[in-house]
Amino acid sequence: MKKRAFSGIQPSGVPTVGNYFGALKNWVSMQNDYDCVFSVVNLHAITQRFDADVLRERTRYLYALLLAIGLDPRRSLLFVQSQVPQHCELTWVLNCYTMQGELSRMTQFKEKSLKRPENVNVGLFDYPVLQAADILLYDSDVVPVGQDQKQHVEISRDIAERFNGLYGDVFVVPEPVIPPIGGKVLSLLDPARKMDKSDPLPGAYLSMADDADTVMKKCKRAVTDSEASVRYDPAAKPGVSNLLSLYAMCTGQTPQEAERDFEGQGYGVLKPAVAEAVNAVLGPVQARIRAYTDDPAQLDALMEDGAARAEAMAAKTLARVWQAVGLTGRPAKGGASC
Ligand code: TRP
Repeated sequence: MKKRAFSGIQPSGVPTVGNYFGALKNWVSMQNDYDCVFSVVNLHAITQRFDADVLRERTRYLYALLLAIGLDPRRSLLFVQSQVPQHCELTWVLNCYTMQGELSRMTQFKEKSLKRPENVNVGLFDYPVLQAADILLYDSDVVPVGQDQKQHVEISRDIAERFNGLYGDVFVVPEPVIPPIGGKVLSLLDPARKMDKSDPLPGAYLSMADDADTVMKKCKRAVTDSEASVRYDPAAKPGVSNLLSLYAMCTGQTPQEAERDFEGQGYGVLKPAVAEAVNAVLGPVQARIRAYTDDPAQLDALMEDGAARAEAMAAKTLARVWQAVGLTGRPAKGGASC
């Protein structure tokens, strides 16, 4: 039996090429070794303000993107969080087993509260509990996340252990796995920082939705240095090294091999070559996304099927929880009764 892996991604913007190489591509290969469940976590996204139509559109787009990069609904379970009511239901129960003090120590909550003091809503505070519900509903053994999400997986563990301590083995206790850095892509304009989809300067990141011309323009404007040689030396030449490693990720080489491709050449050759390598990856993905978004009925059907399968699993876990706590469940209507 394969271990179960669960991860989620917020539809809070179009993923960048950095998100693709740093995280999403790893999800695709995890399908070989794990029984994978992936969710577009739109309930998490509303802790931030969005135009309703934009959120709906981005949710569908992201679902299409996950399919387009190679998450295979025959092997993995892909669903939209808001289509599975058990996430909200379990969150409430877990809220009653989570302490205010623990949530107020969460780094992400503290950072986001400082960044936008005008909207420190209770949902933002409770965000980690919703995340714990996501993970625990599917009996997840491992949760592949970036370093920044490790604390959220740890609090999920703590909540699961506390609950199990009171009621027996209701939850599988999950473990974070920080994937080996498949690739860290830095900002094109400030290589001291990570490439970030919410960067105020769009020239700093390559969106998965950028067309070939935009990618070319952004690569040509990428920050380099005044020495004209193409060398991989992240400390001394962060901009050029970032371009080389991005090129290498796209072509499946090591940065050192990529460096050899540009021996004796200048940045005028490197930059368009990077853009072309990125476009060679993005082009086919974008064509597949378009095929899904051009056929909304097919996309709806895939989303509905994912939601139904997710709900069947989630309902079983929820029934155990209701039973353990002593909550009277809704009368069974085909699904698992509580
Ligand atoms: N908080 C995660 C992020 O911003 C997204 C997320 C929501 C998630 N639920 C999850 C990740 C469950 C892993 C498991 O990246």
